[in-house]
Amino acid sequence: MLIKTLILLNFYVLFTIGTSLWHYECLESYCEKTLTTSNTSNGLSLSECNILCHNGAAIWPKPTGNVTVSDLVEIDLKSFTFTTTPQTAITSLVTEAFDIFTKQIKKFVSCKVFLGKSNAIDVASVQVVFNILDQKLDLMTFGTDESYRIETQLTNNSVVYVNVTAPSFFGARHALETLSQLVVYDDIRQRTLFPSNIFIVDGPIYSWRGISLDTSRNYVTPKAIKRTLRAMAASKLNTLHWHLTDTASFPYVSKSHPELSEYGAYSPSKVYNNDTVKTLIEYARVRGIRVVPELDSPAHVGEGWQTTGVVTCFNWKPWDDYCVEPPCGQFDPSQDKLYDILEDVYGDFLSQFDPEVFHMGGDEVNVNCWNSTSNLTKWMVEEKGWNLTKEDFLDKLWPYFQDEASKRLYKAAGKEIPIILWTSELTFLDNVQEILPPSKYLLQVWERSDDLRIQTLLEKNYSLILSNYDALYLDCGFGGWVDDGQNWCSPYKTWQTIYDNKPEVIAGNRTSQILGGETALWTEESGTNSLDSRLWPRAAAFAETLWTSPSTNWEQAQERFLIHRERLVALGIDADEIQPEWCRRNQHNCRL
Ligand SMILES: *[C@@H]1O[C@H](CO)[C@@H](O)[C@H](O)[C@H]1NC(C)=O
Ligand SMILES: *[C@@H]1O[C@H](CO)[C@@H](O)[C@H](O)[C@H]1NC(C)=O
Ligand SMILES: *[C@@H]1O[C@H](CO)[C@@H](O)[C@H](O)[C@H]1NC(C)=O
Ligand SMILES: *[C@@H]1O[C@H](CO)[C@@H](O)[C@H](O)[C@H]1NC(C)=O
Ligand SMILES: *[C@@H]1O[C@H](CO)[C@@H](O)[C@H](O)[C@H]1NC(C)=O
Ligand SMILES: *[C@@H]1O[C@H](CO)[C@@H](O)[C@H](O)[C@H]1NC(C)=O
Ligand SMILES: *[C@@H]1O[C@H](CO)[C@@H](O)[C@H](O)[C@H]1NC(C)=O
Ligand SMILES: *[C@@H]1O[C@H](CO)[C@@H](O)[C@H](O)[C@H]1NC(C)=O
Ligand SMILES: *[C@@H]1O[C@H](CO)[C@@H](O)[C@H](O)[C@H]1NC(C)=O
Ligand SMILES: *[C@@H]1O[C@H](CO)[C@@H](O)[C@H](O)[C@H]1NC(C)=O
Repeated sequence: MLIKTLILLNFYVLFTIGTSLWHYECLESYCEKTLTTSNTSNGLSLSECNILCHNGAAIWPKPTGNVTVSDLVEIDLKSFTFTTTPQTAITSLVTEAFDIFTKQIKKFVSCKVFLGKSNAIDVASVQVVFNILDQKLDLMTFGTDESYRIETQLTNNSVVYVNVTAPSFFGARHALETLSQLVVYDDIRQRTLFPSNIFIVDGPIYSWRGISLDTSRNYVTPKAIKRTLRAMAASKLNTLHWHLTDTASFPYVSKSHPELSEYGAYSPSKVYNNDTVKTLIEYARVRGIRVVPELDSPAHVGEGWQTTGVVTCFNWKPWDDYCVEPPCGQFDPSQDKLYDILEDVYGDFLSQFDPEVFHMGGDEVNVNCWNSTSNLTKWMVEEKGWNLTKEDFLDKLWPYFQDEASKRLYKAAGKEIPIILWTSELTFLDNVQEILPPSKYLLQVWERSDDLRIQTLLEKNYSLILSNYDALYLDCGFGGWVDDGQNWCSPYKTWQTIYDNKPEVIAGNRTSQILGGETALWTEESGTNSLDSRLWPRAAAFAETLWTSPSTNWEQAQERFLIHRERLVALGIDADEIQPEWCRRNQHNCRL
C-alpha cells in the first residue's frame, strides 16, 4: 500500500511539475532572470547559473584560494563512489562522512531525486579519490590543518574523477561540503548536474569557528542540537561551545554527583545523560566539529547544588541586589568541600568530552552576594586576614577560587589543560597576568568591539576568542523578560552586522592572537522551538567571516548568502527568512 502510494505520488510529481517560463543569464557576478523564447530554450536554470556565474561559484564560505568551476555535465546522483586508504585510523570516519555527503546531495537537489535517472545516454558517474596525508588524526585539535584541494578529470564523458587532497580528514571533510554545494538540479530540463572541471584550493583563516549554545536557561533537545551540528558542518564551523549549566537548571547528568541533575534539571526528561552526550560528541566529530564543554563558575550556579551546601545567595531577593538575572547563585569559595565536588564533576566532563581545552566560564561575579554571606566574610577576615573591600573580593577571593578550582581541574585531567574564561572584572585587573597566565588561559571576549580593554588584553599577550556582544549575541533584539522593554543588548544583530564583524579590524596588528570567534545564543528567550531561526542563517554569516576573512563586506556576499540559506533549509533547518524570495530570483534588485 505504502509503495503504491509512493509510486502514485511519484507520477503525480512527474506530471504536474510545469516547466519554468524563465531562465537565467550570467551578468558579471550575478544571474539575471530572463523570459525564455524559442531562441533561448537552452538557457540556464537558476541553480546552474548560480554555480557558473558567481565569483566563487556560490560556495559558502567562499574559498580562500583559487577557484575554477565549469563544464557542467549530467550525472547520476546515485553514482557517487569513493576510494581512500583502507584500514587506517580514519577509514571509518571517511566512510561515514561520505555517507553523510551522499545523503546531503540528495537533499540539496530536493524531492526531484526520486524521479530517478534521466534517459540521457551520456550521464556520467562521479568517483571521489581521497589523498589524506595524516591517516591517524581523528580528533580536531588546535593545530589541525583543515585545508583541502580539489581537482577533477573527466574520462570519456562517463566518469568524473574528483581528486581531493588534504592534510587531514577534517580538510577532506570540508572538501565534501564544497562538492555538495556544486551538485545542482536543473529544473528546466529535470537533470542533475555537476561541474566536470573543478580546481579549488581552500583553507580557513581562523582556526576557532564556533557557536556558543546555552542549554540551561531553556532546555534544547538533542535532536535540535543535531540540527545545529548539521548546519554548522554545512557552513564549515568547527566548534560547538556547550554552555551546559547555569543557575536556572543543571541538565548535565554527572556520574559522580547525580543529585545535581536530579535536583537541578527542569524535569527528569530534560537532561543530557551519558548516552546522549556520547552520541552528540560523535555526531559532531564525523562532521568536523569539536565539542567544548563549559561549567560556568563561580557565578552562574544555583539549581542542582541545593544539597551540597557550597552555593550561596541562591534565589535571594531582590535578585538585582545579588546577580544580573534571576535566580541568583554563586559558589562560596571558602568551603573546602566545593573543590572536592568540582574535581569529581570536572572528572565526569573530562572523561566524556576528552576536550583539549576546558571552559570554566567565570563571568558576572557579584561582589555583594559574597559580601552578604556571613560565613564567607568571617572566613575572609578571621582565617585569611583580608578586609572586605572590592579589591579583597576581586584581587584575593576570586583568584583564590580560580586557583583552587583550576588545580582540581588539572588533577582530574592528569595534566595542565588550557582553560578558557569569559572576560570579566577579573580579566581586566592590572595584574591579571599573574592571576591568569596567558600561557594557561585563553579569554573569550564578550565586550563591545570598540572596548579599548580588548587591546590591553592583546598587549598582555592573551589569545582571544571573539564573541563581542554588539555583533555576535544572537539573543539580542527581543522583548525584555524581567521587564516590558527591549532586552538588554538590543537591537537585533543583523546578518550584515555579523558578517562585517571583522577580527582584523578589532585586533589590528595583533590579529595573530585572535584564535577565531563564536556567535553566542543565550536561551532566556529561545530554546528547542526557536533555536533554528535564532541561529540560522546568521551563524553562517560569521562562518564566512572567520573562514574567508573577506576583504569585501556583506553586500558582495548577499546573493551567495541567500543561496546558502536555501541549503540549510534543505537540510531540515528552519532558518529564518532574510528577504522575500523574489530577491533570490531577481538578483541585484533589492539593494538600496
Ligand atoms: C530569434 O532568432 C532569430 C534568428 O536568429 C532572430 O531573427 C530573432 O530576432 C530572434 N528573436 C528574438 C526574440 O531574439
Ligand atoms: C592561483 O591563481 C593565480 C593567478 O591566476 C596564480 O598565479 C597562482 O599560481 C594560482 N595558485 C595555485 C595554487 O594554483
Ligand atoms: C570510459 O572510461 C571508463 C573508465 O576508464 C571505462 O570503464 C569505460 O569503458 C570507458 N567508456 C568508453 C565508452 O570508452
Ligand atoms: C591527485 O592530486 C594529487 C596532488 O595534487 C596528485 O599527487 C595525484 O597524482 C592526483 N591523483 C590523481 C588520481 O589525479
Ligand atoms: C558513560 O560512558 C562511558 C563511555 O563513553 C563509560 O566509560 C562510563 O562508564 C559511562 N558512565 C555511566 C554513568 O554510564
Ligand atoms: C554558616 O554558618 C552556620 C553557623 O556556623 C552554619 O550553620 C551554616 O551551615 C553555614 N553555612 C554554610 C553555607 O556553610
Ligand atoms: C585592612 O584594613 C586595615 C585598616 O584599613 C589595614 O590596616 C590593613 O592593612 C588591611 N589589610 C589588608 C590585608 O589589606
Ligand atoms: C562589605 O560589607 C561591609 C559591611 O558589612 C562594608 O563595610 C564593605 O564596604 C562591603 N564591601 C563591599 C565591597 O561592598
Ligand atoms: C609577549 O610575548 C612576547 C613574545 O613572547 C614577549 O616578548 C613580550 O615581553 C610579552 N609581553 C608581555 C606584556 O608579557
Ligand atoms: C600596533 O598598533 C598600535 C596602535 O594600534 C601601535 O601603538 C603599535 O606600535 C603597533 N605595533 C606594531 C608592532 O606595529
